[in-house]
Amino acid sequence: MAALPTVVFPVAGMGTRMLPATKATPKELLPVYDTPLLQFAVDEALAAGARRLVFVSHPEKSAIEEYLRPAPRLEKGLAEKGKDDLLEAVRNASVPGDVDVVFVMQHEPLGLGHAVLQAADHLLEGPVGVILPDDLMLGPPCLAEMADAFVPGDMRSLIAAQEVPRDRVSSYGIFDCTPGEAAATPARGLVEKPDPDDAPSRLAAVGRYVLDPSVFDTLRDTEPGTGGEIQLTDAIASTGAIHAFRFSGTRFDCGNPDGIVDATLAVQQMRNAPALNVAAE
Ligand code: UTP
Repeated sequence: MAALPTVVFPVAGMGTRMLPATKATPKELLPVYDTPLLQFAVDEALAAGARRLVFVSHPEKSAIEEYLRPAPRLEKGLAEKGKDDLLEAVRNASVPGDVDVVFVMQHEPLGLGHAVLQAADHLLEGPVGVILPDDLMLGPPCLAEMADAFVPGDMRSLIAAQEVPRDRVSSYGIFDCTPGEAAATPARGLVEKPDPDDAPSRLAAVGRYVLDPSVFDTLRDTEPGTGGEIQLTDAIASTGAIHAFRFSGTRFDCGNPDGIVDATLAVQQMRNAPALNVAAE
């Protein structure tokens, strides 16, 4: 499997669509059934072979750093009580010792492109993965699929793509492309939040990216675009060699309450499935 040495997690946003749940708890730590969104994202990065995880966060979201630290007192307490299942769950939630964890701060929410750019000084050599943890992917690990499909030299960006209803295109970056049979389709361009009447397709960019390091050079020169924010989409569009990737899993938009409910029910079913199978034997 091709590996992605660095994965960047932009987690500095304010999560306003989830208020008041996100008033004191970062959106990325909201649980989906029994596991925070952040943990799903970290597991997906590790499955893609990441050796460095770069979190672009905000000083008021220190609970994210706290979550990723080892919890010796908790582990000791669980070990003493013989709660081995819970101890394993806590241990599985930590990042392996040979994987770097780096935190950089984005003090102002100046946009996803600006957030990703804050990671520029911390990249290992090679293509860079980006995960937006509020897009939860269940099923085959999406970023690992994308790492395998990424062709350095031919592609400057490979972006997870999902068809959305026409009345939703203005919430997404939309690909200008003609989807074919292959999982990775070249795109002529990518337009941020178009009017439904002007949208070049209904194929939307969702929260997984594999980027050639040259995208970071473009980002440095990218002016604020839609909404006065520095858009990742704009930098990707001007770097060129864009590809849309049809992933095989299922995406849940956990940036809003209904998405969290749908994802929770799906994870509940996943967790209960082994027990049901045993019962059926
Ligand atoms: P969203 O558009 O979902 O923004 O950002 P948000 O602030 O998290 O949520 P709402 O819209 O207010 O409810 C997508 C991802 O990009 C990150 C967010 O943390 C989220 O993971 N982001 C966005 C940043 O890190 N910085 C930004 O300036 C903007």
